[in-house]
Amino acid sequence: MTVSSAPGKVYLFGEHAVVYGEPAVPCAIERRATVSVEPRADDHIRVTARDLSLDGFTVEYGQSPDERPDVDVPTPLVEAATGYVDAAVEQARDAVSDPEAGFDVTIESDIPLGAGLGSSAAVVVASIDAATRSLGVELDPVEIAERAYQAEYEVQSGQASRADTFCSAMGGAVRVEGDDCRTIDTPNLPFVVGFDGGAGDTGALVAGVRDLKERYAFAADTVETVGDIVREGETLLADADADGDPDEELLAELGNLMDFNHGLLEALGVSSRSLDNMVWAARMAGAHGAKLTGAGGGGCIVALDPTPETETGLRFTPGCEDVFRAELATEGVRVEAESAVGARGDDGGEAGERDEGAE
Ligand code: PMV
Repeated sequence: MTVSSAPGKVYLFGEHAVVYGEPAVPCAIERRATVSVEPRADDHIRVTARDLSLDGFTVEYGQSPDERPDVDVPTPLVEAATGYVDAAVEQARDAVSDPEAGFDVTIESDIPLGAGLGSSAAVVVASIDAATRSLGVELDPVEIAERAYQAEYEVQSGQASRADTFCSAMGGAVRVEGDDCRTIDTPNLPFVVGFDGGAGDTGALVAGVRDLKERYAFAADTVETVGDIVREGETLLADADADGDPDEELLAELGNLMDFNHGLLEALGVSSRSLDNMVWAARMAGAHGAKLTGAGGGGCIVALDPTPETETGLRFTPGCEDVFRAELATEGVRVEAESAVGARGDDGGEAGERDEGAE
């Protein structure tokens, strides 16, 4: 059994605009997806998922289209989870030059699904690392990031930037502009995350921004202005002392930029009532700034506050289902456990899970 994990992320600035070549700064957070992989003797993939906003499920299938699984949990959710694992397995097969490699894959995650915290990127990154390692191939994080991006690109029909996957593979704060991806130094930013319990449809939200941008010059200008905010923000970060805690002045300036960024995302139609409520609750509680993170439409906001006030404020905000402090994850993808190459463990079955094996 080979076990790898990879972190989720929050966007300090720049989601959506990054799809059109503007820079973005996502930061990895200490909420991780953990993927266990066992090579199989046949070419099947068996996926067991827990904690993906679903009751646990297991599906097993081979490579031909008529072997797609028949399951009794809502199909779009299963397709979402298995689609990413499928694409990750394809990348792993390609990396180890074995198109017929089969795997038992078990996913556990403490990152809410589709909520703007990069859950799918973390699952894809950790899956590629664990699957390749299970066959004796160790990829470097930059190659894992690139392969994970290709996997997301395919599943999301081309509506994906490199931001989530690069951030999850590398850890820390990163800057992504087109295919120029680099890690950057940041002080330990005091992130607080509020979660409304929901999820957004990334594909539909990205398509909505694209439509607006094509229709109105001022929407295209808005996307470019998000890029200006990111450039301003990265200058602040570059001038800051990366060791230790940020000073109040830096937090106030970053917070202003986050507020501005949220306003523009709202204008681009990707916020929601619950996200706006949480953003305002965080600001009223004294956060330096707050914005939605990720695709929007529902899911999470991120605020900057070193004090407990924002957490308390959000806890009492109607529509906010969960609040937590999110430490910057300095480590990206990492191996958690590794056994001898090709060793077979148990069959991955767990008490209490449904086995929907379809062969
Ligand atoms: O909601 P998430 O975590 O999948 O982030 C989506 C970010 C977008 O900029 C909207 C799309 C992308 O691939 O960069």
